[in-house]
Amino acid sequence: MNNSPIGVFDSGFGGLSVWRMLRDKLPRESLLYFGDGKNCPYGDRSREEICRFADDAVRALLERGCKLIVVACNTATAMAIEYLRKSYPSINFVGLEPAVKPACLNTQSGVVGVLATARSLEGELFRRTASRYADKVKILTAVGEGFVEAVENDAEDRPETEQLVRKVMQPMLDAGADKIVLGCTHYPFLRHVMERVAEGRGVEIIDSGEAVARRTAQLLAMNDLQADADNEAYYEFATFGDEEYRERLKHKAFADKI
Ligand code: DGL
Repeated sequence: MNNSPIGVFDSGFGGLSVWRMLRDKLPRESLLYFGDGKNCPYGDRSREEICRFADDAVRALLERGCKLIVVACNTATAMAIEYLRKSYPSINFVGLEPAVKPACLNTQSGVVGVLATARSLEGELFRRTASRYADKVKILTAVGEGFVEAVENDAEDRPETEQLVRKVMQPMLDAGADKIVLGCTHYPFLRHVMERVAEGRGVEIIDSGEAVARRTAQLLAMNDLQADADNEAYYEFATFGDEEYRERLKHKAFADKI
């Protein structure tokens, strides 16, 4: 048993989509969320830079006593998780991977769309999984240009954002995709916009939040790290950004809409 917090890390607000799932599924676990904020977006940065930011964030989380770390960022997982596992061999890390496998196994049309950042789509993990299904399923990929910025600026409901979403999704819809995988943790904040754009097309939008919560629960159990059954969970927020950004993180975490 261990009542220390779980650390959750992302370039900014995106990992809050995972944080919410962790809070819902693991209500006894305290969570310390680290949203970089200062160096966001990570999507076009080099592997070296992303490793450095991830390392700094992980160090900050460990200094505050975190017992396990969820890298709630597909981009940081793709670029830095091996580096983190090597640097901190005694720590359990949970990474984010686009849910390509369930989408490919369940598609009826044989066409799956994957939305992610450029770095995630280049990652070894994604390429390996995608190539495993490539003979049976047509996988269309696209970068959600401007999506991360829209979420960081609380601009999810602006008409310009819907236009950006439509532009990226339309070719996937026209090609007959019936599953669209969200391979970036910022994108679930645009799910309602995507559902509007895909209305009537019978499309399922899939993110990885639930799978990550399940994997986290498993690792806690396997390593005897679960919080006590009567633990009163607390939620804290940290950033490389300023106090205003930290307040915005907190606000976004508890706001109704995702
Ligand atoms: N939320 C992140 C991801 O899952 C990073 C987005 C970014 O910073 O570009 O990929």
